[in-house]
Amino acid sequence: MFTLKSLPFSPEALEPYISARTLEFHYGKHHQAYVDNLNKLVADTDLASLSLEDLIKKVANQPAQAAIFNNAAQVYNHDFFWASLRPAKQAMPMSTALVALIKRDFGSLEQLLVEAKEAALSQFGSGWVWLVLDNDRLKIVKTANADTVLGRGLKPLLVLDVWEHAYYLDYQNRRGDFALAVFANLLNWEFAAHNAGL
Ligand code: FE2
Repeated sequence: MFTLKSLPFSPEALEPYISARTLEFHYGKHHQAYVDNLNKLVADTDLASLSLEDLIKKVANQPAQAAIFNNAAQVYNHDFFWASLRPAKQAMPMSTALVALIKRDFGSLEQLLVEAKEAALSQFGSGWVWLVLDNDRLKIVKTANADTVLGRGLKPLLVLDVWEHAYYLDYQNRRGDFALAVFANLLNWEFAAHNAGL
């Protein structure tokens, strides 16, 4: 059985940038539904005993198992998204090692955020915007729909959900405003540094 992980903050902790009402639906309905659908799809199969990461790698690129991949990847991506966020009121200075890495590969944090916003806006339809390490280089990459960077040789540091369900109640069609609000106020840089091995 796969389970819905607890949110690492209270539902109100991301306000005013992401409302408790958005979390009520995004985490409580959408994320929960991916977990429930995944459990139904793998019930009474050998896949049910795998870890989430191993399951995703096993069924990736197999058209007959697309429904399992989509639900499993959405569970993984959402777990990673919640961990990528921190309460709005919690100060989160970046480690000097991470600052140096960002400066080397993007020039500045501002440029990283410009490229991340462009990726959020240019993702046609639903998807995800990731900050990853590709070998030792920091990069912004996008994945469409449920697709994930897991199993592609990339090390994810942070992710932003750009499905409409992530922002429509709070921002309607203004995906760029949502992305900027999250980047400026809610990113968990300690999680990013930990994932980067810094
Ligand atoms: Fe989502």
